[in-house]
Amino acid sequence: MRRILLFVFLVWFRMETSSSFTDMNALLKLKNSMKGPKAKDDALHDWNFSTSLSAHCSFSGVTCDQDLRVVAINVSFVPLFGNLPPEIGHFDKLQNLTIAQDNLTGKLPKELAALTSLKLLNISHNSFTGNLPGEIILPLTQLEILDSYDNSITGPLPEEFVKLEKLRYLKLDGNYFSGSIPESYSEFKSLEFLSLSTNSLSGKIPESLSRLKTLTYLKLGYNNAYEGGIPPEFGAMTSLKYLDLSSCNLSGDIPPSLGNLRNLDTLFLQMNNLIGTIPSELSSMKSLSFLDLSFNGLTGGIPPSFSQLRNLTLLNLFHNKLYGPVPSFVSELPKLETLQLWANNFSCALPQNLGQNGRLMFFDVTSNHFTGLIPPGLCKSGRLQTFLITDNFFHGQIPDDIGNCKSLVKIRASNNYLSGAIPSGIFKLPSVKIIELANNRFDGELPPEISGDSLGILTLSNNLLTGRIPPALKNLRALQTLSLDANELVGEIPGEVFVLPMLTTVNISGNNLTGAIPTTMIHCVSLSSVDLSRNMLVGEIPNGIKKLSSLSILNVSRNNLTGRVPEEIGLMSSLVMLDLSFNNFNGELPTGGQFSVFNDNAFAGNPNLSLNQRSSLNPVSASASVSATTPIFTFLNIISVIINYLHLYYFKL
Ligand SMILES: *[C@@H]1O[C@H](CO)[C@@H](O)[C@H](O)[C@H]1NC(C)=O
Ligand SMILES: *[C@@H]1O[C@H](CO)[C@@H](O)[C@H](O)[C@H]1NC(C)=O
Ligand SMILES: *[C@@H]1O[C@H](CO)[C@@H](O)[C@H](O)[C@H]1NC(C)=O
Ligand SMILES: *[C@@H]1O[C@H](CO)[C@@H](O)[C@H](O)[C@H]1NC(C)=O
Ligand SMILES: *[C@@H]1O[C@H](CO)[C@@H](O)[C@H](O)[C@H]1NC(C)=O
Ligand SMILES: *[C@@H]1O[C@H](CO)[C@@H](O)[C@H](O)[C@H]1NC(C)=O
Ligand SMILES: *[C@@H]1O[C@H](CO)[C@@H](O)[C@H](O)[C@H]1NC(C)=O
Ligand SMILES: *[C@@H]1O[C@H](CO)[C@@H](O)[C@H](O)[C@H]1NC(C)=O
Ligand SMILES: *[C@@H]1O[C@H](CO)[C@@H](O)[C@H](O)[C@H]1NC(C)=O
Ligand SMILES: *[C@@H]1O[C@H](CO)[C@@H](O)[C@H](O)[C@H]1NC(C)=O
Ligand SMILES: *[C@@H]1O[C@H](CO)[C@@H](O)[C@H](O)[C@H]1NC(C)=O
Ligand SMILES: *[C@@H]1O[C@H](CO)[C@@H](O)[C@H](O)[C@H]1NC(C)=O
Repeated sequence: MRRILLFVFLVWFRMETSSSFTDMNALLKLKNSMKGPKAKDDALHDWNFSTSLSAHCSFSGVTCDQDLRVVAINVSFVPLFGNLPPEIGHFDKLQNLTIAQDNLTGKLPKELAALTSLKLLNISHNSFTGNLPGEIILPLTQLEILDSYDNSITGPLPEEFVKLEKLRYLKLDGNYFSGSIPESYSEFKSLEFLSLSTNSLSGKIPESLSRLKTLTYLKLGYNNAYEGGIPPEFGAMTSLKYLDLSSCNLSGDIPPSLGNLRNLDTLFLQMNNLIGTIPSELSSMKSLSFLDLSFNGLTGGIPPSFSQLRNLTLLNLFHNKLYGPVPSFVSELPKLETLQLWANNFSCALPQNLGQNGRLMFFDVTSNHFTGLIPPGLCKSGRLQTFLITDNFFHGQIPDDIGNCKSLVKIRASNNYLSGAIPSGIFKLPSVKIIELANNRFDGELPPEISGDSLGILTLSNNLLTGRIPPALKNLRALQTLSLDANELVGEIPGEVFVLPMLTTVNISGNNLTGAIPTTMIHCVSLSSVDLSRNMLVGEIPNGIKKLSSLSILNVSRNNLTGRVPEEIGLMSSLVMLDLSFNNFNGELPTGGQFSVFNDNAFAGNPNLSLNQRSSLNPVSASASVSATTPIFTFLNIISVIINYLHLYYFKL
C-alpha cells in the first residue's frame, strides 16, 4: 500500500514538475482515445507507460526536442477507429502532426487551438466530421501546411485561413464543404497550393483569386458546381503551374487570357459545359505538358498555333464538337504520349507520320469521320497500349507495326473499311486483352499460331475471312468472347475451342462450317451464349448438354442437324432462348420443364419433327391460337420474306 502511494505521489510530482512527463501522459491518453474499441491490440504497441523521463521520445512516430518535449507526431496508415481527444492540446511545442490514413472519426477537438507551434497538420484520409471552426484555426499562426483531404468535414470554407500569414499549402479536398469560395481567399499572403476539389461548393468562382500571385497549384473542380465560367482574370496568375477546373459546371468560352500562364504545365478543364473554339492564344503556354478539354461543347479545330506546344505530352479533346483534319504538326510533337480525340467530327486522313516521335502510348480516335490509311508507325515507341479507331472510314490494311506491337492492350478497329489480311502478329501479342475488328473487309485465313494469356475478347465478325478455325485458339486461356460470325470459314469447329475455361460467348453463325458440334462443348460450363446458326453442321446435339448450367442462349438454326431433340434440354432452367429451327430433327418433341418456355418458332422447319404432343399438352394455347395467331403468323411470314429478300440483295452486292 505504501509503495503504491509513493508511486502515485511520484507520478503526481513528475506530472507537476516536468512537462515532458505530461507529454507521456498525454500520448497515452491519445493512444487510448485514438485506438477506440475496434483497433487491433498491436496498434501503437510501443506507446507504453514508463517511469523513464525520455521513454515517450522513442514511441514510434514521436519526435522530441532537447527538452524531451514532443515536436512531431506521425501516426500514418494505422487502423485506429477512435477519435482525437482534448489532450492533444497539451502539445504546445508540436510542430508536425500527421495522423493520416488512421480511420479516425468524430469532431476535431477545439483544444487543437492550443497547438500554437504547429507548422504541419495532416489529418488526411480519416472520417473526421463536423465543422472546421475559425477558433481552432486563428491561433495556429505558425501553420504552413494543412492537409484534410478525404474526411467528412462540413460547413462553409473557413475564412480565418487567410489570417495565417505563413500558410503555403491548403488542401481541403474530399470533404463536404459547402457555400461559395470566400472572396477573402484572394488575400492569402504566402499561399502556393490551394485545392478545394470534391466538395459541395457552389456560387461563382471569385475572379479576385487572380490576386494570388504566389499560387502555383489551383484545383477547384470535381463535385463542386459553380455558376458562370472561368474568370478571364485567371490569366494574371502567372506563377501557376497547375490549374484544374474539371467537372464543376463551368459554362461559356475558354478565356484566351489563360494563354498568359506561361509557367502552366497542366490545364484540366474537362467535363464542363464550355463552348466556342479552342483559343489559339493557349499556344503561349510554352510549358504546357497536359491539356485536357474533353467532355465539353467545343467547336472548330485544333489551332495551328499549337505547333508551339513542344512539351505537350497529353492531348485529350474527346467528346466535343471539334472538326477538320488533325494538323500534321501533331505527329511532330516530340513528347506526345496520349492523343485521345474520340467522339468528335474530325475528318480527312491522319498525318501519316503520327507515332514517329517514338513516345505514343494511348491513341484513341474512335467515332470520328477519319478516312485514308492508318499511319504505319504508331507503335514506333514500342510503348503503344491502346489502338482505338472504331467507327471511322479508314481503309487499307492494318499496318504490320500494330501486329508487332508487344505493348498493346486494346485493339479496337470495328466499323471501318479495312481490308487485306489481319497481321498475324496480332494473334500473338502477349498483353492484349481486346481485339475487335468486326464489320470490315478483312480477308485471308486466321493464322495457325495463336497465343496470348490476356485476351478476353476476340471479335472478327462480318468480314471475309476464309479457311478453318484454328485449333490454336485453345491457347487463349482468358478468352471469354469469341465472335467469328458472318465470315466464310469452312471445315469443322475444332473441339479445342471449348476447352477454354472462361469462355462465355461464342458466335460462329453465318459461315460454311461442316461436321458435328464438338462433344467437348458439354464440358465448357462457363458458356452462356452459343450461336452456331447458318452453317452446314450435321449430327446430333451432344449428349450431356444439360451440363451447361449457365447457358441462356442456344441457336443452331439453319444447319442440317439430325436426331431427336434431347429430353435433357427440359432440365436446363437457365436456357431462355433456344432456336433449333430449319434443321432435320426428327421424332417427337419432348415436353414439360424448360420446353414450355419456347414457342413453336424455335422448332419450325424440321419436317420430321412432331410437335403434336406439345399442342395436346397445351390445349389452352392451341385453341387460343386458331383465330388469334393465324394473322400474326402470316404477318411474320411476310416480314421474314422481306428480310430474306433484303439478305439476298445484300449478298449480291
Ligand atoms: C506494451 O505493453 C503491452 C502490454 O500492455 C505489451 O504486450 C507490449 O509488448 C508492450 N510493448 C513494448 C514495446 O514494450
Ligand atoms: C516536419 O515535417 C517537415 C516535412 O514536412 C520536416 O521537414 C520537418 O523537419 C519536420 N519537423 C519536425 C520537428 O519533425
Ligand atoms: C510519416 O510517416 C510515414 C510512414 O508511416 C512517412 O511515409 C511520411 O513521410 C511521414 N511524414 C512526415 C511528415 O514525416
Ligand atoms: C480505413 O481507412 C482506409 C482509407 O483511409 C480504408 O481504405 C479502409 O477501408 C478503412 N478500414 C476500415 C476497416 O474501415
Ligand atoms: C499527408 O499524409 C498522407 C498520408 O501519409 C500523404 O499521402 C500526404 O502527402 C500528406 N500530405 C502532405 C501535405 O504532406
Ligand atoms: C450550372 O451552370 C448554369 C449556368 O451557369 C447555372 O444556371 C446552373 O445553376 C449551374 N448548376 C448548378 C447545379 O449549380
Ligand atoms: C519542357 O519540359 C522540360 C522538362 O520536362 C522542361 O525542362 C522545359 O523547361 C520545358 N519547356 C518549356 C518551354 O517549358
Ligand atoms: C461531320 O462532318 C461531316 C463532313 O466531314 C459532315 O458531313 C457532318 O455533317 C458532320 N456532322 C456533324 C454532327 O457535325
Ligand atoms: C451472332 O452474330 C449474328 C451476326 O453475324 C447476329 O445476328 C446474332 O444476333 C449473333 N448471335 C447472338 C446470340 O448474339
Ligand atoms: C459455302 O459453301 C458452298 C459450297 O461449298 C458454296 O457454294 C458457298 O458459296 C459457300 N458460302 C459461303 C458464304 O462461303
Ligand atoms: C437464330 O439464328 C437465326 C439465323 O442466324 C436467326 O434468324 C434467328 O433469329 C435466331 N433466333 C433467335 C430466337 O434469335
Ligand atoms: C442433310 O443431311 C442429310 C443426311 O443426313 C442429307 O441427305 C441432306 O442432303 C442434307 N441436306 C442439306 C441441305 O445439306
